[in-house]
Order: sequence, then structure tokens, then C-alpha cells
Amino acid sequence: MRQRILALGTAVAVVLGLAGCGGGGAGSGVTILRVALNQTETHPSYVALANYSDRLEAQTDGRMRLDIFPNETLGAQAEVLQLLSDNIIDLGIISGSQMENLSKDFLVLNMPGVFDSVEHQMPVVHDPEIVGELYTSLEDSNDLTVMGGFTQGSRHIYVKDEISSLADLDGVKIRVQESELNLAMVRALGGSPTPMAFGEVYTALQSGVLDGAENNEVSYFTQKHFEVAPYFTNSNHLVGLDYMVASTEMLENLDPADRQLLEDEWVNTYLDHTELWGEATQEAIDGARAGGAEWIEIDQAAVQAALEPLADTFLTTPVQRELYDKIRAAAPSQEG
Ligand code: GCU
Repeated sequence: MRQRILALGTAVAVVLGLAGCGGGGAGSGVTILRVALNQTETHPSYVALANYSDRLEAQTDGRMRLDIFPNETLGAQAEVLQLLSDNIIDLGIISGSQMENLSKDFLVLNMPGVFDSVEHQMPVVHDPEIVGELYTSLEDSNDLTVMGGFTQGSRHIYVKDEISSLADLDGVKIRVQESELNLAMVRALGGSPTPMAFGEVYTALQSGVLDGAENNEVSYFTQKHFEVAPYFTNSNHLVGLDYMVASTEMLENLDPADRQLLEDEWVNTYLDHTELWGEATQEAIDGARAGGAEWIEIDQAAVQAALEPLADTFLTTPVQRELYDKIRAAAPSQEG
């Protein structure tokens, strides 16, 4: 394992052309934070990060900015987590499913049905009263600090061959993010789950290794999955969440005023992202349709019924239950 991490570190150092973290070089007075992202430059996460960098630069007279590495240039998210943990890079956008593999408490926020909508999700995941110590819980063990999150919007199943109900998913190989909950989720819906890194999905769909996948409209479009899996359902099985994960060591080494600025501007960044999200979703639907994709209706009540037992299987500790209940209590549908 250690060997693998070192080898990876070397490869990344070549891409980065730098050694050490918080680049810019000792004594240069410039802080350049390297951010790993697995999306394209047209994705709202890239745009919001680029805007974040511009604001940091403007407010520090050019002393601080982000260097964004999109398209999995620094590796898939599981590898990026290692790089952050080893303080080789500074920041990364990481899906909740990957965090679930480090701590089962993160699983709560990945549960189908825990969030009703983006409007429910975003305030909740940035409310310290609700998330408590979750975001600092990996600092001692993994040297990782969560700064907050970007929505992934609603996720839906899409397939190469048309389906009309969950029964048609029998034996259909659906790509999932690599976590136990994701495997169980697709099994509960009747499909055959195949865990795989995000960047490999297009080729696997194209070659027939996969029959389908599940994601939001934005990734469906920006990753061009619509070209190879043209039937997009309204399964709406989950509102997904990405986290902004930082190297704890990097944060601790920042000048306190710079750290404050980074955290303050992060708030404007996730608000910006949430606003961009709605527009990007509509553009993605229009773009995928123009490219030949078809939207198909399946019974959403059947999807919800199939997924309901997952909460009892996966939420097994009082800490998980309490967090789940707090999030549900903050749902707009629960408020009088
Ligand atoms: C979304 C999410 C990514 C994640 C991807 C996936 O696009 O924003 O962070 O990696 O789904 O399904 O792997």
C-alpha cells in the first residue's frame, strides 16, 4: 500500500511540476492551492472554483489563488483522497460515496431519501448545529478537513436499451460509485451494480461492459454519457453530495488571515455553485436531448418503496440515527 502511495505521489509530482504543498515556493509570498476535480471545465463545479480563485486573487492583490486540475488529471477521487491525506495536494472535490469508505457517519448524507431537494440539502450541510463534528472527524486519523459541500442534484438511472419499469432492470449492469451503499441501492432497484471510477464510465458503456449508470443530468451531459446510454429515467433515487475536502496540514500551515479568507470565500463559492446548478441542469437536458437522448418515465413510488429498507440496514449506530433524524426534521416537507 505504502509503495502504491509513493508511486502515485511521484507521478503526480511530475504533473504538478512541484514538490510539497501550498505551492508557490518558500519565500515567494504567493500561495497557490492545488485543487483536484473529476469534472470538465464546463461543469458548474469548475466554474464555481474558477470564480473562487478569482475572488481570492482579487482580495489578496494576487497573493493567493487556486490551481484547478479538472478531468481527473490527478487521478480518480479515491486516489485524490490519498494525495490530500499525504498533503501532496491541497484541496479536492470528493463525492460523499468516497467519504463513506473512510467513516460510516458520512453514509448518512448519502442515503436515498435523506434530502428532499437541493433546497433542503445545501443549508443543512452547511449548518454546524446539524453536521456537528462530522467535518473535522477525519483530521486526526486521515489529515482531512471537510470545508462544506457542492450539490450533485438529483441522481437518476440511464441505460443503453429502453426500459419502462424497475422489472426491466433485471440483469442490467449499472455502474455505481464504489461504496457498499451504492451497491445495495442498485440491487434493491433490481439491477446488477458494477462499481467503477467516474472517468472510466464512458468507455465501459460504449464497449458494453456496462448497460447503464446513474448520475445527475449535468454529468450525463458533460461526460457525454448520453451518446452511449440514450435512455434517461426519472428514477430520482437520491440527491447526491460532493465535499470540498482540504489537507488539514495545509490549512494549519496557512497564515490565519488567509485561512479565514479561504473559509469566508468558500461560503460564496457554494452559494454560487448552487445558483449555477439549476441553469446547468436545464442546459444539460436540452443538450442531451439535442444529441438524441430520450427521457423515459418509470414509477417513482416503486423506486422509493424499493429503497426504503436501506435505512434500517445501513443506519446502525445512534450517531448515524441522530444525524439522519436531524436532517429529516429540517426538510421543508416536515416543517409546519
Ligand atoms: C457526480 C459527482 C462526482 C462523482 C460522480 C460519480 O458527477 O459530482 O463527484 O464522482 O457523480 O458518479 O462518480
